[in-house]
Amino acid sequence: MIKTLAAQIKEFKKESILTPIFMVLEVVFETLIPLLMASIIDQGVEAGNMRHIYVVGIFMVGAALCGLFCGIMGGKYGARASTGFARNIRQAMFENIQTFSFSNLDKFSTAGLVTRLTTDVTNIQMAYQMILRICFRAPISMICAMSMAYFINARLATVYLVALILLAFVLFFLIKRAMKYFQMAFPKYDELNASVQENVSAIRVVKAYVREDHETSKLKKASQGIYDIFLKAEKNVVLNMPVMQFTIYTCILLISWMGARMIVQNTLTTGELMSLMTYCMNILMSLMMVAMIFVMMSMSIASAERISEVLNEKSDLSNPQNPVYDVPDGGIEFRHVDFSYYKDKEKAVLRDINLKIRPGETVGILGGTGSSKTSLVNLISRLYDVTSGAVLVGGHDVREYDMDTLRSQVAVVLQKNVLFSGTILENLRWGDADASEEECRRVCRLACADEFIEKMPEGYNTYIEQGGTNVSGGQKQRLCIARALLKKPKVLILDDSTSAVDTATDAKIRKAFAKEIPDTTKLIIAQRVSSVQHADHIIVMEDGRVDGYGTHEELLQNNEIYREVFESQTSGGGDFDEKAGDD
Ligand SMILES: Nc1ncnc2c1ncn2[C@@H]1O[C@H](COP(=O)(O)OP(=O)(O)OP(=O)(O)O)[C@@H](O)[C@H]1O
Ligand SMILES: [Mg+2]
Repeated sequence: MIKTLAAQIKEFKKESILTPIFMVLEVVFETLIPLLMASIIDQGVEAGNMRHIYVVGIFMVGAALCGLFCGIMGGKYGARASTGFARNIRQAMFENIQTFSFSNLDKFSTAGLVTRLTTDVTNIQMAYQMILRICFRAPISMICAMSMAYFINARLATVYLVALILLAFVLFFLIKRAMKYFQMAFPKYDELNASVQENVSAIRVVKAYVREDHETSKLKKASQGIYDIFLKAEKNVVLNMPVMQFTIYTCILLISWMGARMIVQNTLTTGELMSLMTYCMNILMSLMMVAMIFVMMSMSIASAERISEVLNEKSDLSNPQNPVYDVPDGGIEFRHVDFSYYKDKEKAVLRDINLKIRPGETVGILGGTGSSKTSLVNLISRLYDVTSGAVLVGGHDVREYDMDTLRSQVAVVLQKNVLFSGTILENLRWGDADASEEECRRVCRLACADEFIEKMPEGYNTYIEQGGTNVSGGQKQRLCIARALLKKPKVLILDDSTSAVDTATDAKIRKAFAKEIPDTTKLIIAQRVSSVQHADHIIVMEDGRVDGYGTHEELLQNNEIYREVFESQTSGGGDFDEKAGDD
């Protein structure tokens, strides 16, 4: 884990080394000051030697300025190193997420990834800054101050040592208890983030089902849980300060009492006593900082683990050694394909699929919900890899192709498709960044999207909101089809992409396809028999198997499921799932 994260320091190594160096130098100068102070009081004030006061005073100002300079430089480099480190982590995570295959993505929730990229990285950034600045500073400051105290007066310094040990014990005990609660808080945080993310992204559904109160009370419970835990943790943490102050003042009292007697006995000077008191503060404050570092570190370990998980996740799809860069044609073949989302044959969602689709054919795929239609077509553009068997496109196994080449030639309009914020033209050009406006208009005509776009006030420059909230379901689907067409693919897969489009437009789109892109192999998943009735072949899926394969007429003759669905839809216009007998 540490190795994974440390690899992201990259160009900020210099800053990461300079920060602790400057911090240590700052401590050295800080430690000198009380010593010089003692000298001013003893040899200057008490002896009435003004010259000494001036000379040492100048040194003292010099030391303070040097300390200040080092402190500022340490802060500057520390900030640069930690923010740079965070930036690198974030970029590396984001880049790695881009390489994720669908099955990698299945492992992480969206909310989880967002939290990892934001809160967790911020935690690490703060922890890193603390480590660079305080991790070295505090212990060294403690050691320096302690040695100085011993140098001035060993007997009095022993008081500090005893106080230090006692305080360390108490702090350790308090922090340990607080840490227990902090660690309990992290999973709760995740829960809260997930609930907020889910609710906000699905706020329209929440409203449609009038679930606002339910969702609000769910969130209240989650926040209350975090509140309770943090309260308990903080109750322990706040005790630190009074305990600390009690110790400091007890030390000062003891030292004053013992020191006064020593001064009377002439074994200690006033100046020395004063600097001892300053060191007392230094020593105990440093201990406090060390304690805080422990809290911070324990809080960031969970974050570090979650970040490394994302950084170390390797995409389970990769380009082959000598990839094929050309898809010869749009022929598709499935050879004894088994597929499971969990690499487990028992849970296979596709079993022994054998299919042969010629280039340029139009093939309809019908089947009830969960009959694995989407799973079947996702294998063609290699969104997932088969568990066994092989899928061939253009005569080559899909695993032999360069992935970008394959995906540009096999265009999929996903079932859960999204538009991005930007103008319509910008959205279309996801398909082909260099497409001319004329080309964009052409594909929109093919997808029957031109009519409604031209009616919009700004036409092709109309702004689409994030997620495409300002266009209707059917309009969104047509834009998604147009976007896929712009790729000029050899295979076009429409996964339930005209479900929200009216029947007449649906038929118009199909006609346009047949006329304008005759060489493209078209796979159309649909719920309506009318959408696929005229296809060259129709595949009927049932429970992860191919139940029927043939033309409309053939299937009407020899496939019971198809016949029942066709009859129920033509008589009642029912859905695929409402098979005859259900009504
Ligand atoms: N990402 C996934 N991880 C695990 N299981 C999945 C995943 N996607 C789908 N499944 C499972 O695979 C099976 C087939 O799902 P699939 O999405 O292929 O069905 P479908 O025929 O496309 O259904 P629909 O008509 O509702 O779109 C279902 O049982 C589903 O639970
Ligand atoms: Mg589906």
